[in-house]
Amino acid sequence: MVSSKEIRASNALINDATAPRVSVFVGGTSGIGKLTIRALVATGASVRIYIVGRKSSEERTRAFIQELHALNPRAEVIWTEGEIALLADVKRVCEAIKAKEPRVDLLFLTAGYAPFGPRVETAEGIEIAQSLEYYSRILFVLHLLPLLGQAEAPRVVSVLGGGLERASSVDVDDVDLKKPGNFSGVKAQIQYTAMNSTALEQLASDNPNVTFVHSWPGWVNTGNVDRSSNPNSWTAWIIRNLLGPIVRLFAMRDDTSAQRNLFQSTSAAFGGRGVPWTGKPGVNTLEKQENGLFLVNFRCNCTPNAKVMSVLREKAREKVWTHTLGVLGPYM
Ligand SMILES: NC(=O)c1ccc[n+]([C@@H]2O[C@H](COP(=O)([O-])OP(=O)(O)OC[C@H]3O[C@@H](n4cnc5c(N)ncnc54)[C@H](OP(=O)(O)O)[C@@H]3O)[C@@H](O)[C@H]2O)c1
Repeated sequence: MVSSKEIRASNALINDATAPRVSVFVGGTSGIGKLTIRALVATGASVRIYIVGRKSSEERTRAFIQELHALNPRAEVIWTEGEIALLADVKRVCEAIKAKEPRVDLLFLTAGYAPFGPRVETAEGIEIAQSLEYYSRILFVLHLLPLLGQAEAPRVVSVLGGGLERASSVDVDDVDLKKPGNFSGVKAQIQYTAMNSTALEQLASDNPNVTFVHSWPGWVNTGNVDRSSNPNSWTAWIIRNLLGPIVRLFAMRDDTSAQRNLFQSTSAAFGGRGVPWTGKPGVNTLEKQENGLFLVNFRCNCTPNAKVMSVLREKAREKVWTHTLGVLGPYM
């Protein structure tokens, strides 16, 4: 485990020279994204941050942005409205960012929830949580890769379940879990987690200049468990009354999560570039210390999950990637 002392020492080194000067937070309107933005702004560095979120969150996010500007007047935080579950809107938002910015240093992706409840699709025919946790995230990466390529230490962080993949976790014959009776919240969350890792590993091997992190944040009391269900269903009742209190009891403190996510977004522990790190270097999914995909848990340990990843690489990666490019093609 990387100790809290080491995390704070590393984050204390974030300044104008080492900070991600331009970052895009998709999901920064709540939860872990919001906590991480506050921690980044509190470093005092001169940073520009795009917070991408849906219209219904605009008012409270604008209040949050005012708080951030008071915390650090050198931080420029820009509200960017986008219905991020819709791929057409992801494309529109990315085009707008590309028109304004020559480079992006950090893309931080947290939108989503475990879809405990009935399957609900977006207007584009994708299960909502799959769009938020997978397709929309990968589309943001693909669109912003040219800008990430202009940064000195570019990084993509996808917060979901890095390290928790299982060997049989991708149903390659039903990647979108559309077959009758093949959808459940648990199955979906396991599948979307493994799809994140396989696709991010593909992107990491195609773009060795960019550091990719798929993290598992542990338990953070953000209300995420209450998000998805039909509030009147049994599943919702169980989650609200059983899982909710357990998460609240065992969750890490908000600031601990914020500092750990900031560390994962900036430290050279992952791939060698970023805030200097003299501790044990992290290893990627190929069990090497060089750039690649880092599966990182809430202790900030790299957990390459090597046996499972090699099975996924062999049996799922190509199918998932081909399918993904087929779904995203119209929005590229
Ligand atoms: N918190 C945990 O303990 C935990 C543990 C393991 C994994 N995770 C996963 O890690 C990720 C981040 O978790 P978190 O706790 O930060 O989540 P969160 O606080 O619930 O926030 C997730 C983000 O998703 C957005 N979102 C949710 N539903 C949406 C929809 N239908 N359309 C557009 N945006 C939507 C939210 O936007 P609004 O602000 O507009 O609602 C928010 O910005 C999630 O994928 C979560 O499943 C969390």
